[in-house]
Amino acid sequence: PLTSRTNSQGHLEIGGCDVVELVQEFGSPLYILDEWTLRRACQLYRDTLAQCYGGTSQVLYATKAWNCLAICALALQEGLGLDVASGGELYTALQAGAKGEDLYLHGNAKSVEELKMALEVGCTVVVDSLFELEQLAALATPEQPARLLLRINPGIDVHTHEYIRTGQTDSKFGIGQFQLPQAFEFLSQHLQLRCVGFHAHIGSQIFDLQGHRDLVGVLAQIWRQGLHKGLPLQELNVGGGLGIRYVESDDPPSIPAWVETVATAVQQGFGLAGIPLPKLLCEPGRSLIGPAAVTAYTLGGQKGIPASDDLPEGRTYITIDGGMSDNPRPMTYQARYTARLANRPEAEPTQLVTVAGKHCESGDVLLRDIRLPDPVAGEVLVVLATGAYNYSMASNYNRYPRPAAVLVNEGQAQLILRRETYADLIRQDLLPERLLR
Ligand code: LLP
Repeated sequence: PLTSRTNSQGHLEIGGCDVVELVQEFGSPLYILDEWTLRRACQLYRDTLAQCYGGTSQVLYATKAWNCLAICALALQEGLGLDVASGGELYTALQAGAKGEDLYLHGNAKSVEELKMALEVGCTVVVDSLFELEQLAALATPEQPARLLLRINPGIDVHTHEYIRTGQTDSKFGIGQFQLPQAFEFLSQHLQLRCVGFHAHIGSQIFDLQGHRDLVGVLAQIWRQGLHKGLPLQELNVGGGLGIRYVESDDPPSIPAWVETVATAVQQGFGLAGIPLPKLLCEPGRSLIGPAAVTAYTLGGQKGIPASDDLPEGRTYITIDGGMSDNPRPMTYQARYTARLANRPEAEPTQLVTVAGKHCESGDVLLRDIRLPDPVAGEVLVVLATGAYNYSMASNYNRYPRPAAVLVNEGQAQLILRRETYADLIRQDLLPERLLR
């Protein structure tokens, strides 16, 4: 996080709070979210887009990266709208104070209940398929019309992990370009459906700006066809996808560079085609919140495996009190992270260690072959850049309660997620009487 430094005790401090003391107060593992870093990223997206784009614009926060009341409320306070990808995310956003006009509902297989909920609150629906257009036509009425964007599959492939590529032709997401004539025809026959624009999202953790330039080119073409068919087009949503630095060798573009690229591409693409500029929307998740949070763990025991022919350097495993249930990304995407000792952030990282999670899976290894300064049991290990897709993908595997989260700013720490308890774990369990001994 941008506000981190080493304090007078020699400990890592974030948002003016001593990380070792935070763990003493709030327990371990602990998600620590730096308010200043998050607000700064919101402002960079919002202000750069407003400054460098000739038309109107809106930034939406993709709440799937981390959805809870406090973070939805903070994004709204910064003037962002919210992208929600399920009834649960929509419900949370509403409870945090979002209004229909702030909200965009995504999903490639939305339920009828989710669509009804969106219509009732006036949330824009990002329609993913021809099937969904039919579902929506059956639910919307002239009195309660559906405001929608069509999610287009642009047929663009980007270099990122195959699980997080979404824009290639062979993808479950979006309406294929071959299906567009049918979609446009359907819209022209169903006036309870108001298609106000298009959406596309090509993938996540992307470092190369060319994918979004290509995307805008494709969307400008389709926009022209849509206008020709008489659609009331106003909004162009280019999705999210900007990558972040997890390890030293990662070199992503900055937020302003990404925004300027997209804005310029839209101005050129629409200018060349001689059509008025749309309201430009984007919906970043990872690049907004990823760098703003860290996860603090407490170190446990070590096991040194002696060197052998197969393992020339040997290996030292060190355990932590968390793992794949609070951060499934290393297991799911072979994701890599950077770690520091909160007790001695400045100490020379001399020892090669592998940080093992506590779950019953050999694959539950959070960090492979990283260097730390001779770690000792009881010290606090901080894993950096865990704000995106950690809490939101957390589970109760092995029936571990989910960690707490605190929002830190100017020396104050505010609990935003309570630590789950064992009682929480059995709250939905039912025990039929005949099973009692
Ligand atoms: N819009 C749509 C429609 C999306 O599907 C996503 C992410 C975003 C926006 C935000 O993308 P971002 O700016 O965060 O790249 N769990 C995976 C990432 C899945 C991304 C899903 N969609 C991970 O941990 O890497």
